[in-house]
Amino acid sequence: MADPFLIGEAMTGGYGKGPDILHECTIAVDKGEIAVIVGPNGAGKSTAMKAVFGMLDVRSGAVRLDGREITALSPQDRVARGMGFVPQTSNIFGAMSVEENLEMGAFIRRDDIRGTMEQVYDLFPILRDKRHQAAGELSGGQRQQVAVGRALMTQPQVLMLDEPTAGVSPIVMDELFDRIIEVARTGISILMVEQNARQALEIADKGYVLVQGRNAHTGSGKDLLADPEVRRSFLGG
Ligand SMILES: Nc1ncnc2c1ncn2[C@@H]1O[C@H](COP(=O)(O)OP(=O)(O)OP(=O)(O)O)[C@@H](O)[C@H]1O
Ligand SMILES: [Mg+2]
Repeated sequence: MADPFLIGEAMTGGYGKGPDILHECTIAVDKGEIAVIVGPNGAGKSTAMKAVFGMLDVRSGAVRLDGREITALSPQDRVARGMGFVPQTSNIFGAMSVEENLEMGAFIRRDDIRGTMEQVYDLFPILRDKRHQAAGELSGGQRQQVAVGRALMTQPQVLMLDEPTAGVSPIVMDELFDRIIEVARTGISILMVEQNARQALEIADKGYVLVQGRNAHTGSGKDLLADPEVRRSFLGG
């Protein structure tokens, strides 16, 4: 069977000389798909994202993108290969304007970025209105839009999002999910961690439940939502 477009396969590793946090953890996403990682606090969801993005020494296992092994590449090199990452925290420059944040996002590009910036503004019209405001002055949901927009500026083939809806209201969460679905429909793969497990699995082609750095349950979003054990343990019944 062909490899998924992006796969972190049987990743084992931790921070520095510390103990392993991930234990043979496998995460994958196909072209234009939405894959969602859920699980309890401290399960290693962010660590798994960092491992896929090259911010963690993977002691064993491999990461492959479009059939090529990228396990040894730096995060910068992965961006050059088409990966974008929005980390869980510190994902914008608060003192810089919205537009400057988008320009910073395009740092690796040598070509004209204005078309991409217009696409980001079309996706998140409020950012066009606020383009000259300091990003730090925006609401939580708008700051997350800046973070996602910034990652889109490199025209990634895979967009990795660590808790894009953290701290936003249910309405803003629904809106962000709609925008994320829109991005996926353009053929970009989405790999995201979500605290709002039920809502995220509803839009997920693939779902991963991680527990203590291991794959506990894997399936389509629909299958996981219907799984009595997943419902009881992770979705509040
Ligand atoms: N920079 C770090 N250095 C050392 N240990 C870390 C570091 N970051 C996370 N850990 C540890 O790794 C484990 C997994 O943390 P991680 O942040 O990946 O979990 P998570 O599933 O993303 O949790 P949350 O839902 O709270 O975001 C935890 O035991 C945590 O203490
Ligand atoms: Mg996390």
